[in-house]
Amino acid sequence: MKKQNPLLALSHVAKSFRISGKRVEILQDISLEVHPGQWIGLMGNSGSGKTTLLSLIAGLIRPEKGRVFWHGKRLHYFFDIYPAFLRNRYIGFIFQDFRLIENESVWENLLLPLRIKGWYHRKDLKRAEWLLERVGLESHRRHKAGLLSGGQKQRLALARALVLQPSLILADEPFANLDENTSEEMMELLLSLRKEEPFAMILVHHRKKLTKYCEKTYHLKEGRLHEA
Ligand SMILES: Nc1ncnc2c1ncn2[C@@H]1O[C@H](COP(=O)(O)OP(=O)(O)OP(=O)(O)O)[C@@H](O)[C@H]1O
Ligand SMILES: [Mg+2]
Repeated sequence: MKKQNPLLALSHVAKSFRISGKRVEILQDISLEVHPGQWIGLMGNSGSGKTTLLSLIAGLIRPEKGRVFWHGKRLHYFFDIYPAFLRNRYIGFIFQDFRLIENESVWENLLLPLRIKGWYHRKDLKRAEWLLERVGLESHRRHKAGLLSGGQKQRLALARALVLQPSLILADEPFANLDENTSEEMMELLLSLRKEEPFAMILVHHRKKLTKYCEKTYHLKEGRLHEA
């Protein structure tokens, strides 16, 4: 039988930034495979490069060395069209800093992936309604996103990442602004969705308690991944 390609693969990826005039290698040599439906935990100290790694996977920044593959096909960055397409259709990114359009409504923010895609069906709107209710923001539908609390913004960012049924969720500390109960509710939402429509996830977090949900957990340290 032919071996199935992983959903995502990184091969010897490196990325550096100029920080205070000095070039610092944030990601030195990262190789990683994520299979369809697999949940992977990513931990590491503040500043170790977790957000950089997720941004690289989403095609928002380019690697200096190494290669990124989607379903075995190398990701090329010419004109950014292909990464942008992948991001819209197959990746749900829950950004650490939410990246909401602050002067648009909760509902408009939620529909953003559908608007970028350019067309949608009534069932997509139904799903958006359902997600809005599941994250407890139905009564805030017309509220400007910029007026939400930190935890509400985080829940909206989570719903928005799920609206197009992505095959990979990049979750950058998605529970950081939530209390214990709400975090559990959001985890329940992800777990129940996973049963109906399996999606892979890279979950950045700092809570040991969350490792039990992940098949593998990596620590990012000095630019390299170490399996926990
Ligand atoms: N575009 C950029 N230009 C210059 N430096 C950057 C850029 N993006 C990130 N960095 C630097 O790279 C390092 C890693 O940042 P990153 O945001 O990936 O860390 P992190 O592991 O996500 O940290 P945290 O847990 O605090 O969110 C930091 O020192 C940061 O200042
Ligand atoms: Mg970060």
